[in-house]
Amino acid sequence: MDQEKIKNHFNNHKGLEMYFSPEIAEQFAELEQNDKNFRVAEIVDRTIMQEIKDMTDPIYAAELGGGAHPDRYHEFFSKLLKEPHGHIDWVDISPYMLELAEKYISDEKYQNRKEVITFIKNEILEYLQGLENEKLDLAIMKYVIDDINNLDELFKLLALKLKQGGKIITTIGYSNPKMKSLHTNARFLYNGEQFPDNEIRILKDGDNFTVKFFKVSGDPNSGYLEGAETVKYFHSAKKIKQLAESYGFDIFLGDWKDLIKQDNQGGESMNQEILVLTKK
Ligand SMILES: C[S@@+](CC[C@H](N)C(=O)[O-])C[C@H]1O[C@@H](n2cnc3c(N)ncnc32)[C@H](O)[C@@H]1O
Repeated sequence: MDQEKIKNHFNNHKGLEMYFSPEIAEQFAELEQNDKNFRVAEIVDRTIMQEIKDMTDPIYAAELGGGAHPDRYHEFFSKLLKEPHGHIDWVDISPYMLELAEKYISDEKYQNRKEVITFIKNEILEYLQGLENEKLDLAIMKYVIDDINNLDELFKLLALKLKQGGKIITTIGYSNPKMKSLHTNARFLYNGEQFPDNEIRILKDGDNFTVKFFKVSGDPNSGYLEGAETVKYFHSAKKIKQLAESYGFDIFLGDWKDLIKQDNQGGESMNQEILVLTKK
């Protein structure tokens, strides 16, 4: 895609440009090969397995903003691969992330996942708009909900496209309104502006923050990964709860350990905030 086209395409999706560079997309996907990322994927996998246990097979799911790693979610994929086969649409706006996604499941261990995945290059809201009403049993969003500016539209569409009892399971990255400047992997800017390392900024609904990734994780002096910056949108817990109520969802919002029964936690003790919405 040439620069002009990217610009037009991203009128409403400022800050996703990094996923449109094949080199940056690849480096980003490699950075995701870290312990925390695997553990979060496992937490999501366990949450999925608990939340879908009473659903009727075959399951129709969508991973929204799927990115490069369908080599996670082992329990869920083995369920999809059991007869009658379920299905997952792996939706991402970036052709490069989807190429990488195919690559990450091309070895023998994961190849059979291709039988149940369709890779779809589309924007999340557009994909949902195009879907038949009440098609989905499950939508998964991992590290992606804050890429969406128009949360109201997302909830509205999900309310239409999920079956009754259908669910959305998403990680919540930044519900704490107190934002630091320095993080392990990245520096955060408040509404586009850098601020001192020892200060915080208080995020409100409607605010955005830019994430600039360091070349070497944990080392702010290593410089920034060139071109790797992304703009994210802050959504407060209050707003999420209000939207859930107005679109007819039951809601769980909190640490995953408060949702998943002890014996299913498998020794994992990491904190991770998640949101589970169930269509009433
Ligand atoms: C931070 S990555 C997370 C990827 C993946 N969910 C994971 O946990 O590894 C965000 C991904 O979402 C995609 N994305 C962000 N906003 C999107 C949108 N509005 N529509 C489609 N894809 C989007 C990006 O291209 C990128 O691959």
